[in-house]
Amino acid sequence: MKVLVVGGAGYIGSVIVDQLLQAKHNVTVLDSLVAGHREAVNREAELVVSDARDEEALGRLMASRSFDAVVYYGGYIQAGESVLNPGRYFANNVGGCTALLNAMVAYGVGRFVFSSSAAVYGQPDSVPITEDAPGRPVNPYGESKLMVERMLPWYEQSGGIRYASLRYFNAAGATDLRGEDHRPETHLIPIVLQAALGQREAVPLYGTDYPTPDGTCIRDYIHVSDLASAHILALESASDGDSGVYNLGSGAGFSNREVIETAGKVTGKPITVREEPRRPGDPAQLVASNEKAKQALGWLPAVTSLEAIIDSAWRWHQSHPKGYTS
Ligand code: UFG
Repeated sequence: MKVLVVGGAGYIGSVIVDQLLQAKHNVTVLDSLVAGHREAVNREAELVVSDARDEEALGRLMASRSFDAVVYYGGYIQAGESVLNPGRYFANNVGGCTALLNAMVAYGVGRFVFSSSAAVYGQPDSVPITEDAPGRPVNPYGESKLMVERMLPWYEQSGGIRYASLRYFNAAGATDLRGEDHRPETHLIPIVLQAALGQREAVPLYGTDYPTPDGTCIRDYIHVSDLASAHILALESASDGDSGVYNLGSGAGFSNREVIETAGKVTGKPITVREEPRRPGDPAQLVASNEKAKQALGWLPAVTSLEAIIDSAWRWHQSHPKGYTS
C-alpha cells in the first residue's frame, strides 16, 4: 500500500513509519517539523516538510502520488496547554484534518486511520472505559479529537472514506531507534527520566487531592510499538470496509506516584518530587477496556508491564540524553 503518514516525524508517527516499512508498505511522511524531528524519520520514507493546512501543497502532493491510505498523527497533544489556548488546538487539529479529508475526497483516497485520544471521554463515570461511553471532553484537546471523530461518518457517507479512529491512552516507552522528545516536554514518564538523569531537580507532581487511592491521577500506559502495531491492523481493517472506533490501552491503571516509584526502581536513581496544585484539564482516572480492539482487530499488546515500558524509555533517554539532534 502507498501510505501518507501525516505527523510521521513525531513520537508515535515515527514508530509507525518504521513498522509500515517493515511490512513492505511505501511511505511518505508529511510533517511541518514544528513538533517533529527530521532525525526521527526513517530514511527509507519520503519526507515532505509542510503543514497539512497548506491546501495547495497538500493538493500537489496528493496529485503526484496515488496514495491508498492516510494515517494522521499531526495533532497538537498537550491537554493542559489546550485549556489556555484552545484556538491553537481547533485550528490545527480540526483544521488540519478537515484539509486532509477534503483532499482525500478530491483525490479518491479511501482509507483513513485517525489518532484520537482517551481525552474524548473526559472524566468517565466508571473504568475501564468502553468505546460506547459518552464523549464529554474536559479540555479543548479532547474536544478537537471528538470533533474530528464526529466528522468521519459524514465523510464516509459522502466521500466513501473508510476509517479507523484509534483512541490512545497514554503512549509511553521507546524502541531501539525512536523515543519521546517533545519540546517542551510535558509528559510524566520522560520528565521523571530527565530527573533521573539529573537534568531536572525535581518532578512536579500535579495534584495530590484527586478521588483516587493515593490522591494522584491514574493513567493507562501503552507501549508505543504496541500502538503502532494496532495501526497496521487498523489500516488493513479499514481496507476491508469496516469503519470503527477503538480504544488502545493496556487495561491497567497506574497512579502518578506509582509511575514515579517504578521509575525510581528501574533507574536505580533518586527522584525528588515537588507537590504542585492540579494541572487544568486533567481527568482523575483514564483506564481503557481494550476488548474491542483485541476482538475486532486481532490486536495483542506485547509489552505488558509498566517496568518494561519505563525500562525501554530509560534506555532511549540514556542513549539520547539531549533527545534528537535535528
Ligand atoms: N504529570 C505530573 N507532572 C508532570 C507531568 C505530568 O504530575 O511533570 C501528571 C499529569 O498531571 C497527569 C499525568 O501525570 O495526571 C499524566 O500526564 P501526561 O502529560 O503524561 O499525559 P496526559 O494524561 O495528560 O495526556 C496523555 C497524552 C494525550 C492523551 C492522554 C490520554 O498527552 O494526548 O494521555 O490519556 F489524550
